[in-house]
Amino acid sequence: MPKAIISPSLLACDFANMQSESEKVLSLGADWLHLDVMDGHFVPNLSFGAPVIESLNKHFPNAYFDVHLMVTNPKEYIEPMKKAGCDMFTFHIETCANIDEAIGLCEAIKKVGMKVGVAMKPKTSAEAVYALADENFVDMLLVMTVEPGFGGQKFNPEMMPKVKQLREKYPEMDIQVDGGLSASTIEAAASAGANVIVAGSSVFGAEDVKGAMDVLRQAVDAAAA
Ligand code: DX5
Ligand code: ZN
Repeated sequence: MPKAIISPSLLACDFANMQSESEKVLSLGADWLHLDVMDGHFVPNLSFGAPVIESLNKHFPNAYFDVHLMVTNPKEYIEPMKKAGCDMFTFHIETCANIDEAIGLCEAIKKVGMKVGVAMKPKTSAEAVYALADENFVDMLLVMTVEPGFGGQKFNPEMMPKVKQLREKYPEMDIQVDGGLSASTIEAAASAGANVIVAGSSVFGAEDVKGAMDVLRQAVDAAAA
């Protein structure tokens, strides 16, 4: 299993202080910053877009920007996100009409120099990403453990067989989980094989932010051992 990567979701931070909130988690051991971009159409919520990410990136040029695009037209976001400093560009497979469209998207993301992630909503099966993962079009698989759109929702353990299925098929792949991850749910996710852990409310809402992230990392390390 690949190494543990902790990616706090800034959706749960104080938006008026994104710089200091990012500084806090990065200085306490976060590996990546998870940035949730929403268009009010693919999901019924709006967050922030490329201009905000670009401003943040100017303060943290060396941080790894893990951007989760919950948008209907991910293709239109490739150039702006690259320019904004995005490192990992994760799109939703549900936005693609067919596999050729999905492959084209992966190639376009790679061409500008970003890593490619593909996300699955809870009702989307693991098989939906086989064609992309089998041919190495993607660097990371994201299994949503809640319906995308809002932070602070309850982790859905029924997604664990999907994580397990993908881990068995792709032992070396980064597999991300997103939604409701905390000290009480990480065990299930880590033992199913997830190694990239997104956590919003459980990290930014914690008294002990470092402790909250350490618990997530230790569970992944223990499952890998
Ligand atoms: C939800 C987002 C998540 C969200 C997770 O649509 O994709 O990244 O911030 O928040 P928590 O960890 O609070 O469930
Ligand atoms: Zn997310």
